[in-house]
Parts: sequence; structure tokens; C-alpha cells
Amino acid sequence: MKILILGQGGREHAFVKALKRTTADSEIHVFPGNDGMKKEALCFTDKSLSDTSFIEKLCADNRYDFIFIGPEDPLVNGVSDHLRNLGFNVVGPSQHWAQLEGSKVFAKEFMIKAKIPTAKYVLVETVDQVKQHIQQFTAPYVLKADGLAAGKGVFICDTPDELFAAAENIFEKKTLGSAGSKAALEQFTPGWELSYLFFTNGKDYVSLPIAQDHMRLYNNQKGPNTGGMGTWAPLEISNELDNNIRKKVIEPTMAEISKGNSVYRGVIFLGIMVNGNDPSVLEYNVRMGDPETQSILPLIESNLGEFLLGLSKGNLSELKLNRNFASCVVLASPGYPDSPKKGLTIEGYDLVAETASQHMIASGIKRENNQWITHGGRVLGAVGVATSKADAIKNAYSLAEKVKWSGIHFRTDIGTSN
Ligand code: GLY
Repeated sequence: MKILILGQGGREHAFVKALKRTTADSEIHVFPGNDGMKKEALCFTDKSLSDTSFIEKLCADNRYDFIFIGPEDPLVNGVSDHLRNLGFNVVGPSQHWAQLEGSKVFAKEFMIKAKIPTAKYVLVETVDQVKQHIQQFTAPYVLKADGLAAGKGVFICDTPDELFAAAENIFEKKTLGSAGSKAALEQFTPGWELSYLFFTNGKDYVSLPIAQDHMRLYNNQKGPNTGGMGTWAPLEISNELDNNIRKKVIEPTMAEISKGNSVYRGVIFLGIMVNGNDPSVLEYNVRMGDPETQSILPLIESNLGEFLLGLSKGNLSELKLNRNFASCVVLASPGYPDSPKKGLTIEGYDLVAETASQHMIASGIKRENNQWITHGGRVLGAVGVATSKADAIKNAYSLAEKVKWSGIHFRTDIGTSN
């Protein structure tokens, strides 16, 4: 089976590994990919993900069985529609449905229409409007820029002054560009968070093991927000909570999506806040989470290539899981998330052996002058797999210890703090 994956980070490398493990005859190309994936997949690292005409040419030349779109940007930019219109099998929702992630306001209106539990909100476009509506909310105040902002668009503010400063930054100083032309001012949702992902063909869905991410840079949820510093799965939840998520969130989501004519063949990743047994949706994502994917895919037993090929044609089959646990510890470059240091020499990477219980995921890594160097904020993901959660975490940490660079940073409480 010949497969093209679009993307270049840890999520895409996790797909390469899972496809190699479960789909015996797979030949995988990743566009553009990264140097750390090149042992397993053909990559095009001198190209940019936004080069749609090159993607088109690759597809025409290679006649892939299907194309899997990893990140949100090409989905929001309509690449899935474009490739589908050219006759290719694609896993990824239409540009219309990608607005669930690409526009916070679209997602809020979708949830209100489908009566899905989520925090109340108002649409704001100026600092004055924020001042006008603040009395409807209690601290901490939440302001979410409408568009894609690479994880930098959510502001949680303890005081009105902090909120007004955030509004001034996005609306007047335009720190987020067009992503901040409007925003959702919403009520803070207390509770604890889980990542619920499912594949869908727009009608039916197949749930993936629930994962938990740790978004802050430092232990015990301290420090700035990041794209995610580490995950583990499967998280077991009560039957009542599971039932509430399915009945109150997923089924109305599917009912609303199936009413439209736009194609949804891909993934929905819900950020859900839980209070007691009640879910409240924080956000929709229209792609797999990173690093959730790194902890979820090792739990899949089925032939993932066959599953995704079916999905690309609109067919959803059963997904068999093993009984393992997996954990991914993200190894970051100093300065992440604001200004990660690139070009630091990575020691130990070539010596890391891959086993059934440990593997390394390449995210922001580059080969230069016969050396591995850091090339992004989240550089590597150390993944541990085992029959218990504790052993999966132990395996991830013992792998993490095998590589080094100056100022390497990782959390030491993945899976053990909330
Ligand atoms: N780990 C969070 C995300 O992928 O959005």
C-alpha cells in the first residue's frame, strides 16, 4: 500500500511508525517530513507544506492509495477538498468542517445549534466590546482568538486589566494577525481535561483510547502553555461520564455534521473539561493531537493502513486495540515555547534502539554536518509502551534519559499529575 502523509512533526512520525508496524506492505512518503523519519519514509525536507502544486504533482506521479493530512493548516486551507476534487482518496475533513478548529466562533455556534455543553460566550471584535460585556462573566476571564494561532490564541486572565491588555494585543496591536480579528469571550470552565478522539466518516464514529495531555511547560501545570509536553493513554473513565460524552457531545456532533453536504472523513479531537460526570467542550480539533497521537497509535492492533484506506473512501471499519498503555514524554529545546533554540547538537540519538516497549519520535530534529541538531521547540518524543500505566511511563522516562542537548527540558510528572 502506498501512502502519503502531509505534515512534518511528531504526530506524523507516530503515523509512520504505526503504519509500518500494522500494515505489512506499506510504502510511506511524508511531505515534507523531517530528517528523523527518513529511515522509515521518503521525505521531501527541502520543500514546504504550503507548496500545494508540488503535493498535487506528487499525488499524480505516485497514485497513492490514500493521502492522510496531519496538521490543521492544510485542512483549514482546503487542501483535502482540492485533492479530493482531483480524484484522490483523502483522510481529512472538508474546508467547511475544518472551521470547527479554524474558527472558534464557528465552533461555538455549531455547539449552540447542536445543544452541546460548552461555556457561554459572546463574540467580540474590539476592546470596547470586551469592556461592555465583561460584567456577564466571572474571573478568570477567557478570551479565545477566532483563527488558528499555533497554540497562542487563548488568554486566561485573572483580572479585568489583564483581559483588556490581551484584547488590546490581539485587536489593536494585531499580535496574532488576522487570527485575532475577532474573538470569543467566554466563561472559564473549571474541572479536569481529557482528550477524546474519534475517527468519523461523517455519519458513524469509532472512538480511540482516551488520552491525557499536560499542556504547561513545567511540572504541576506551571509555566506557559505549550502544544503539549507529554501524554498517556488509555485513560479509563466512569461509564456515566463515557455515556454522557457520547450522548451529549458526540452523537449531537455527528447529527449536525450528517445534516450538511460537506465531506467529513477524518478525525475529531475534542478537548473536554470534566466536572463530576459532566463534560463541557473546550474546543474541537479536526486532526489528531500532538503528542496525543504518540500515545494512542501504539494501542492500535488493527491494520491501520486498511482502516484509513476504507475511511478515505467513506467506509468506517472496526478498530481493534491491544491491552497496553503508552506514554510520550516530550523533550524540548531551551526557549520553548516562545523562542526555541535551534542548532544545538543532540547526543545519543543514533544509539537509541527501538524495541516493542520503547521508541523515539522525531519532531523538530535535523541532520547537519553529520550531526543531529535541534530544529524546533518540541524536538523528540520518548514513547514507552507496557502492560501497565506505571511501566509505560517508566519506559518513556528511561528512553528520555538516553539523549541530551544543552538545556534539554522535559517534565518529570507526565502521567502522575493532573
Ligand atoms: N496536544 C494538543 C493538541 O494537539 O492540540
